[in-house]
Amino acid sequence: MESMSNQTEIRRRRTFAIVSHPDAGKTTLTEKLLLFGGAIHVAGAVKSNKIKKGATSDFMEIERQRGISVATSVMGFEYDGYKVNILDTPGHQDFQEDTFRTLTAVDSVIIVIDAAKGVEPQTEKLMNVCRMRKTPVIIFINKLDRPTQDTFELLDDIERQLQISLNPLSWPINSGPDFKGVYNIFDKSLDLFKASVQDIEPGISFDDLNSPDLEKHIGNDAKKLREDLELVYGVYPPFDHNEYLAGNLAPVFFGSALYNFGIQELLDAFVKVAPWPRAVQTEEREIDPEDDKFSGFVFKIHANIDPNHRSRIAFVKVCSGKFIRNNVYKLVRSGKTFRVSSPTAFMASQKEIIEEAFPGDIVGFPDNGSFIIGDTITEGEDIHFKGLPSFSPELFRFVENADPMKTKQLNKGVDQLMDEGVAQLFTSQFNGRRIIGTVGQLQFEVIQYRLEHEYNAKCRFEPMQMYKACWIQSDNPKALTEFKNRKHQKMASDKRGRDVFMADSQFILDMAQSEFKDIKFHFTSEF
Ligand code: G4P
Repeated sequence: MESMSNQTEIRRRRTFAIVSHPDAGKTTLTEKLLLFGGAIHVAGAVKSNKIKKGATSDFMEIERQRGISVATSVMGFEYDGYKVNILDTPGHQDFQEDTFRTLTAVDSVIIVIDAAKGVEPQTEKLMNVCRMRKTPVIIFINKLDRPTQDTFELLDDIERQLQISLNPLSWPINSGPDFKGVYNIFDKSLDLFKASVQDIEPGISFDDLNSPDLEKHIGNDAKKLREDLELVYGVYPPFDHNEYLAGNLAPVFFGSALYNFGIQELLDAFVKVAPWPRAVQTEEREIDPEDDKFSGFVFKIHANIDPNHRSRIAFVKVCSGKFIRNNVYKLVRSGKTFRVSSPTAFMASQKEIIEEAFPGDIVGFPDNGSFIIGDTITEGEDIHFKGLPSFSPELFRFVENADPMKTKQLNKGVDQLMDEGVAQLFTSQFNGRRIIGTVGQLQFEVIQYRLEHEYNAKCRFEPMQMYKACWIQSDNPKALTEFKNRKHQKMASDKRGRDVFMADSQFILDMAQSEFKDIKFHFTSEF
């Protein structure tokens, strides 16, 4: 059989993430999409990788989840001629960095919103990242089997809070115990709700709204539905695909993931409207997915999946060309070339060795410490993908060795965990003490636990007075030297040896900024 052209392969790929505020139903929806996509056969096959609320010190749980999350990091499946890749993201807010990085590897996003709760804090943050990157977004309003507010009001609230225009492609008929189903505006059909957890048959289709048959199906609710839809057609212009692709307009679907309702409609519309891999910016030029030459970048590293083998997997998003097993590729940062003899792909919840991969696909490279997050891999060209977010750490602790016999292990462990992007390391230029900066408390606990269990090293954290890490830079070498002399007790180096001023308070930072006009202060490591 002749294989498909690169272009055909690219255009049938749909690589996306499902994101939500915890508990809105991301895990349930992911699982149901796999079920409807035929990738799994029973509900419950995909384990949630979320860390339950209140489990902040349940390390075994974190570990168990980490193990599971490798398998569910990427879930690929074939559906109706499309290759669908779902990238999983951790729900816990202390792992937001991970989620934000994963969002750099997707071509579109489905945001799940709990119909009763509306937009929640994390929904807003996630939308901000999508807006910044102009990622096309579909909104799935979930849990219609529970009472909700008026649909028009709900949509107005979402539109206002997420600052994006909406376009409902389905419309719910009541909610909670009176929930009757949805009218599918996209397909012009009526889908009736049956509360069954395993039944995946679609509801009855119905296409003439003015027919008195509507009453037969939904009784007195028919009148309200006709009125609602008249208003919908008046308020919302017809769906504009290009506006969606540009990230300006979000189509909206309603359903109940738990009861398998609205999932088929979502999946069918998703594969039709969602974008295939788009051009990606590098510092040097734009990379078209249809370029002949392979390129990709590392957006995630997952370490020590099996504690008995020092194994890491670097997750690479293919951006252009075709990845081929055993071909020689170049790691741009080091200039070194390498071959990957056992690249893996993730089909449903299985990991398997692959021969080739196309733009949109995620390939797992076995890694013994060569890759770091953000690395570009090419056939030889020196390009650098950009747009991987970097974070301003918010919490800081000194890290001390708690077992002097295990210094080497500690150093190695700290190094590798930083490469994985768990946290950021600074070394004081004044006294050599090491400082770890994170965005969430949970990271410290994860670091301590993993150092002990994966590297056989013990660490202790000590509190420190610290407001912000500021990367400093100046065109005026004299000013820089003067600044460093004056602040020498507060100067540190990051992992790449760059100067970082550790400001203990907003006040100190303000003073420093007004006194040293020639110095630029940056609050993330990328500038
Ligand atoms: P998350 O990944 O976004 O955090 O949410 P998850 O899918 O785990 O769903 C959170 C809770 O909401 C789960 O209940 C889940 O069963 C429930 N849920 C998801 N979709 C629907 C829906 O359409 N309708 C209703 N009524 N509930 C829904 P839980 O009791 O917290 O978890 P579990 O013990 O059932 O796993």
